[in-house]
Amino acid sequence: MAQIIDGTAAARAVRAAVQREVEGFQREFGSVPGLATVLVGDNAASATYVRSKHKACAEVGIASHGHELPAHTTQEELLHLVHALNQQPHISGILVQLPLPAHLDTDAVIDAIDPDKDVDGLHPINQARLFAGREGLRPCTPLGIMHLIDHTGIEIKGARAVVTGRSILVGKPVAFMLLERHATLTICHSRTRDLAEEVGRADILVAAIGHAEMIRGAWVRPGSVVIDVGINRLPDKRLVGDVEFAAARERAGFITPVPGGVGPMTVAMLMQNTLTAARRQLHRAR
Ligand code: GUN
Repeated sequence: MAQIIDGTAAARAVRAAVQREVEGFQREFGSVPGLATVLVGDNAASATYVRSKHKACAEVGIASHGHELPAHTTQEELLHLVHALNQQPHISGILVQLPLPAHLDTDAVIDAIDPDKDVDGLHPINQARLFAGREGLRPCTPLGIMHLIDHTGIEIKGARAVVTGRSILVGKPVAFMLLERHATLTICHSRTRDLAEEVGRADILVAAIGHAEMIRGAWVRPGSVVIDVGINRLPDKRLVGDVEFAAARERAGFITPVPGGVGPMTVAMLMQNTLTAARRQLHRAR
């Protein structure tokens, strides 16, 4: 029976560490890091996510600056705001909540963010830095996943890691982070011929495919680490991951629950990234 990886507790510990570092930052530099959030339109889920980011900022001592724009905001108006935030020294990080309304060009908005304020790690410069193994801001959910894997104490070096999913936000970046830590990497996706066979080889499985319980428990390699990134709402309103939890738990060594696994880590790592961004800007200013 697998040990449950408690993401809520791990996230709390990360926030506590960031809070101590923010206090040190303030003593040293006389200011605190600042996070600007940009929310366009009235997507209820997005508004909830942004609220949880502001709440975390308040908890760790980061100043948060919310910008709420109407759904009919033009591309030009949004770019104007991003350019203004790029220039403001008290803004360390800029987070444009996605998805944007369909009439807006998301790539152009991400490209407009100063890469050293890109706390989502989505700017092509930061993606290239990850690809090249250089320092840079990295996406929050993959950072949280790596933190949870490390938390189990297993050695990543040489382990067989299987990532199911190849999104820009999770699958691809976490794959490169695992590779950087010397895992033997396989990336699976919707066209993978024999998903069960690939999953069965994984010492570390990161499931980020976006389909409720698609990874069957019986496929899971005994003793492995199973990180479930999925958040899927079933017709009966239950929230489940991409992994068939109860059956997978019988076989795995460690497994994240849904909810309470990867989810809470994302906001915690956003706090850490905002602090990292603030430090990067100080170094640049020197
Ligand atoms: N929408 C869903 N996840 C994310 C995220 O990690 N960052 C942003 N900016 N928007 C999101």
